[in-house]
Amino acid sequence: MKVTRPLVCFITLLGLFFMACRNSPPDSSKGLRPADVTAKTDDTRDTHSYSNPEQVRVRHVDLDLEVLFNRKVLKGASILTIERARGQADTLKLDTRDLKIIKAEASTDGANFTPAQFTLGAADKILGAPLAVQLPAQATKVRIEYETSPNASGVQWLEPAQTAGKKHPYVFTQSQAIHARSWIPLQDSPGARVTYSATVRTPKALRAVMSAGALPFNGPLRPDQSGYSFNMPQPIPPYLIALAAGDITFKPLGKRTGVYTEPTMLERAAREFEDTEKMIVATEKLYGPYRWDRYDILVLPPSFPIGGMENPRLTFATPTILAGDKSLVSLIAHELAHSWSGNLVTNATWRDFWLNEGFTTYLERRVVEAIYGRKREEMEAALGLQSLKKEMEGLPEADEILHVDLAGRDPDEGFTLAPYEKGALFLRHLEETFGRERFDQFLKGYFERFAFQSITTADFIAYLKKNLLDPNPQLAARVPVEEWIYKPGLPASAPKPKSDAFAKVEAQAKEWLEGKTPAAKLQTKQWTTQEWLHFLRFLPQQLSVNQLKELDQAFGLTKIGNAEIAHQWLLISIRNKYEPADPRLEEYLTSIGRQKLIKPLYEELVKTPEGRKQALKIYAKARPGYHPIAQTAVDKVVKKA
Ligand code: BES
Ligand code: ZN
Repeated sequence: MKVTRPLVCFITLLGLFFMACRNSPPDSSKGLRPADVTAKTDDTRDTHSYSNPEQVRVRHVDLDLEVLFNRKVLKGASILTIERARGQADTLKLDTRDLKIIKAEASTDGANFTPAQFTLGAADKILGAPLAVQLPAQATKVRIEYETSPNASGVQWLEPAQTAGKKHPYVFTQSQAIHARSWIPLQDSPGARVTYSATVRTPKALRAVMSAGALPFNGPLRPDQSGYSFNMPQPIPPYLIALAAGDITFKPLGKRTGVYTEPTMLERAAREFEDTEKMIVATEKLYGPYRWDRYDILVLPPSFPIGGMENPRLTFATPTILAGDKSLVSLIAHELAHSWSGNLVTNATWRDFWLNEGFTTYLERRVVEAIYGRKREEMEAALGLQSLKKEMEGLPEADEILHVDLAGRDPDEGFTLAPYEKGALFLRHLEETFGRERFDQFLKGYFERFAFQSITTADFIAYLKKNLLDPNPQLAARVPVEEWIYKPGLPASAPKPKSDAFAKVEAQAKEWLEGKTPAAKLQTKQWTTQEWLHFLRFLPQQLSVNQLKELDQAFGLTKIGNAEIAHQWLLISIRNKYEPADPRLEEYLTSIGRQKLIKPLYEELVKTPEGRKQALKIYAKARPGYHPIAQTAVDKVVKKA
């Protein structure tokens, strides 16, 4: 067959197209596969998505949504801009969960739409249902009209009573890991990056915010509606698409930073987060420019199920970090750091989650050190290691592996401390081995090299080998990279973050435990939140009610407002049946929905028959106020026989 020039051009273009489609950069190709550090698997394939981005790829999502509080439904349409090679698949496969698909249309000119055939497959418990849309030849856009279910796993609808202001309803989304599909039909895979735009209509009094830049709204509106427009011009993984609507006000913190929250929390939040701009400057100095224009923080109502979510340009945060003394703002450092590790360089699949969270936990500590000093960093790292060791005692070995196998499982099960703290320790080990200066340069280069790409663990290993290990073979010999990434537990040579401040706390605790000094006379005046947390964790599991009374009288622990210290104290109170804390326990569990703070308390309660009863009683009251994912998690705890 004679190969004609146009055909050669076409094939070349086709090849380029598929190279561009594969999110991983060319570094990951065979030629650069490390010899001694072998990747066990190079599965770029995302087992948690039905989509077929290697054949048809969604490049842009344009949303047009109405927020219907009376029905607890988001209703509207999504126009997906697609790219595909001629002769390739004639079906676009999307992820959905509990969506009602009203119709599908396709367009070849981007303006006129004609009906398109679609089939919604059977729903899988973990993955949801695949939506297959037949593509006419030359189709460039697909429009899907749909509405969400009131039980959408990624959307929480709050009654006015569940908000701080009690007057208006509130709604927010939480898309990570695979919940975006419960409110938008799309290719819900972190490797399938998209730009997005949106118009959102809300009831008149409410404001909508999204993880995108705000634009002037100029669409049609009913008199009882307000309208908002947004644009995210940078390609992001779909799990970063986020929306909230409610009685939300704004206060600037600096030129490019500000805080959004319900009016009653605004001033408190602004004071708590006044170091935000400094944090950005510190992170930029280490890892290169902040690439997302603005950085704002949305403080959610207390039922927000997690601590924070790094939605680009607009971190979502729990109000439980408003301690009044900035002692819990490392969470902001963490979510901000995701602007580099996670949002700029993204895990290609949920197996590679540690690339997001381990790097971010490492960056978070570097930023905390830069702003609040080494002492604070050491305390937080030491607390992190303690928590990791404690959690690993109960984890199956397979889940201690950074490159964790999540096939057939809900990726939310990968949300353990292993990717966070073990991942961060690995990077700390690299820093300590190669020196801070060299390692900082390496990381800066990494963010630059993979900016706006989604990469696998194998991609990272190849980059590490080429840019840090191979150029420094003697130092490289000291770091068991294989073991860090593919084996359970911690390598023997793992760093052991230590804190001198904690040594002093332990000395005080011993004074008290040995009966040498009464609680009221201990030297605790200068203690920060971290020292209190360590003190409470350091105490023996079994304490007498009289001992607890003494602590409570000396330090007012039952009525303490700091949600982390209260959590630690309530754990001790449950374990030792300290009844004076019971009303506080009930108040705590019915007013806060953050999983990390509530789940361990239920777990402690159900260990005894009386505690179980108490847990069921409180949970009956608290459950309706929890987010769907927190409900699922606590259901598992209280239903266990
Ligand atoms: N991206 C995570 C939250 C997340 C992870 C949501 C997995 C859904 C699935 C976020 O950056 C995070 O790590 N939040 C932590 C706080 C942080 C300071 C460790 C949290 O919410 O506890
Ligand atoms: Zn994180």
